[in-house]
Amino acid sequence: MEKRNELISLFRAMDELPETVRFSKTLEHHEYLLDGEIKQWTGAMQAVHSPVFIKKSTSLEHPRLGAYPLMSADEALLALNAAENAYDHGKGPWPTMGVEKRIHHVEQFIIKMIEKRAEVVRLLMWEICKSLPEAEKEFDRTIDYIRDTVDALKELDRISSRFSIEQNIIAQIRRAPLGVVLCMGPYNYPLNETFTTLIPALLMGNTIVFKPPKLGVLLHYPLLEAFRDAFPKGVINTVFGKGQTVVGPMMASGKIDALAFIGSDRVADQIKRQHPKPHRLRSVLGLGAKNAAIVLEDSDLDLAVNECLLGSLSFNGQRCTAIKIIFVHQQIISLFLEKFCDKVSELKIGLPWDTGVKLTPLPEENQVQRMQAYIDDAVKNGARIQNPGGGEHYETLFFPAVLYPVNSRMSIYHEEQFGPLVPIAPFNHISEPLKYIEESDYGQQVSLFGRDPQQLSELIDPLVNQVCRVNINSQCQRGPDTFPFTGRKDSAEGTLSVSDALRVFSIRTLVAAKGNDQNKEIIRSIVQDDKSNFLSTDFIL
Ligand code: G3H
Repeated sequence: MEKRNELISLFRAMDELPETVRFSKTLEHHEYLLDGEIKQWTGAMQAVHSPVFIKKSTSLEHPRLGAYPLMSADEALLALNAAENAYDHGKGPWPTMGVEKRIHHVEQFIIKMIEKRAEVVRLLMWEICKSLPEAEKEFDRTIDYIRDTVDALKELDRISSRFSIEQNIIAQIRRAPLGVVLCMGPYNYPLNETFTTLIPALLMGNTIVFKPPKLGVLLHYPLLEAFRDAFPKGVINTVFGKGQTVVGPMMASGKIDALAFIGSDRVADQIKRQHPKPHRLRSVLGLGAKNAAIVLEDSDLDLAVNECLLGSLSFNGQRCTAIKIIFVHQQIISLFLEKFCDKVSELKIGLPWDTGVKLTPLPEENQVQRMQAYIDDAVKNGARIQNPGGGEHYETLFFPAVLYPVNSRMSIYHEEQFGPLVPIAPFNHISEPLKYIEESDYGQQVSLFGRDPQQLSELIDPLVNQVCRVNINSQCQRGPDTFPFTGRKDSAEGTLSVSDALRVFSIRTLVAAKGNDQNKEIIRSIVQDDKSNFLSTDFIL
């Protein structure tokens, strides 16, 4: 009850919020970017309300932040046509442009994007309730990612700026674009994860249709003009609206060459199935995960507690890489629970701009009810909430619940909660968590906590074949972004990283000629006179 009273006090009147974040004017965005022009939508609109409640004299209200177009299938197909025309079967100015020039366009975009930092950060807080430092981090990490991608492309281009001669065949091998890419990111990283596919896809010469996630839409508006001004017409087009309405027809047209989607495997399967020739569709998917932490008997408990806390509850546990179940050795479980619950109690819950806040309102519709249903099911099957105030909630504020002991009869044991619940299971023998990982539908990452190199190495070897990152005494995470980010089973398709993303949105293609005098002379002439962007030894400095 005490916790609930604290939660009730957290929502305040608009004029009690810091002046810099107050929302005084709603953002009614009718604009969308089509074929190089910002058009005005006159049809139905989708209202956007913040997960933050605002106190009025006698009630609480979800403030309206604005609205965005609910486009129809026709407009989505127009966007697709614009991207298709800009690609023009690979003949368009963008796919045939030299790498250095394409990079220049992206650099122009970075300059314009940075100007919008404050606006985007403010909207990340209001729309999805990312805390101020986390929202700033998301923006800055995205800028770094774009810059690193540019550097990686320069390096890739340098490596390709030479000829190979094998069996008297002269060849130049480069990576070429795939065509039209449909980019869709998730709501928890609406900027960063969208751009980690969109930017490399663009840089490789593809043209783009971009549909923002269901939450975190308005924050893309400040960047619309930057996209228009930085890129040639049709190279990037935006589609706003319901996924079922706009995505299906684009896929069914068969004109999407690559799908970049970060979300659930259920939705990814639905989207892919709509393509008439699935073998033609290249997919780059970041999907669900149920990453486990295994805390061994000899682990450094304080370290394990801190990392598991960060891993399970950063951004309310709404990360695909979050630790979503913790297995703790029976010998140390009591102490682990005590220390872990103490740390959870110290976490500050509040509004995204409140100083030191770690937990914020939950943005998804019915998310609080979904969390409560997991708790009810776990309690019914023998678990108890271990931490004071755990599971207390008020409107969209939900204080994390540590559930123990969880077992296989509970939904939380198997399902991805994507929210502030920490299920903890005891184990006696290491075969128990290993079996869990083997039987899981997911295969993204695992965290191992322990000190004995022998025991850890015996776990590392089988686990690297079950998941795609084994973290030692460290939480699960995507970064650094230069590291490969992928998963097995239902967790991913394709690998993302600064350099891998350039590969997944391109295909190796080559120009080859038998090494006779006539061919040598033709190649020499093309290269010397700079006649081709592909067949070229130009070296980006
Ligand atoms: O939601 C999934 C993100 O890729 C997680 O990234 O581990 O850096 O928070 P992160």
